[in-house]
Amino acid sequence: MNTDMNGAVTNALTWRRAVKAFDTTKKVSDADLATILEAGRLAPSSIGIEAWKFIVVTDPEVRAKLREAAYGQPQVTDASHLIVITRRTDAENIAPELVARTAKAQGKEVSDLEGLSKMATGGIMGIPEGAVRDGWLAGQTYIPLGMMMTAASMLGVDNAAMGGFVNAKVDEILGLPEKHLASVSFMVLGYRGDDAYSKMPKVRRTIDEVVERV
Ligand SMILES: Cc1cc2nc3c(=O)[nH]c(=O)nc-3n(C[C@H](O)[C@H](O)[C@H](O)COP(=O)(O)O)c2cc1C
Repeated sequence: MNTDMNGAVTNALTWRRAVKAFDTTKKVSDADLATILEAGRLAPSSIGIEAWKFIVVTDPEVRAKLREAAYGQPQVTDASHLIVITRRTDAENIAPELVARTAKAQGKEVSDLEGLSKMATGGIMGIPEGAVRDGWLAGQTYIPLGMMMTAASMLGVDNAAMGGFVNAKVDEILGLPEKHLASVSFMVLGYRGDDAYSKMPKVRRTIDEVVERV
């Protein structure tokens, strides 16, 4: 066991806060951003579907509109970077894409992967269409969100998840329906400014409340 690494992980996650007031003068480096996005790319998903896209929004005008759709929350425009985490809406294309990329990665023919194709198609399309399937696809995206937040925290980059926005408005601003995507959450990245919130003690249940051993 690497005790230094244990301490480093716990310290980074304790330090991480849902920052509200960012230092607007500080930018996250391209190298840090690339590592954070790579953590999202490497996230696991049910059956390996990777039914998501992470949209890095840099255009200040678009960010201003997104802030309006997020009840005016200042983090949306003031953080160094805003990433909109989206889920796929075209469920029917997800399994064929998985089969194609598996064949490519493993040097196989698509026809060699009939078992995977059947399993993935059944696994995705077998979930009732509508709120249940949409909820399942949305739920998958919280895994890369969490992994990107952890990676950012370990790099000393402030990061916060945000769900306080009107999805339909965000989707329209970013033209997501045409791309067969729907917004799920925001992740903001940057460096805390004079942030009263993160100076307050962190609130968490105790380990005994959240862990049960049987
Ligand atoms: C999915 C999700 C959505 C959230 N949405 C918002 C939000 O819209 N605005 C906000 O200020 N904080 C938001 N938060 C931050 C939480 O309120 C915060 O993480 C929690 O109170 C714990 O505080 P800490 O992150 O500082 O430890 C969100 C967190 C998560 C995980």
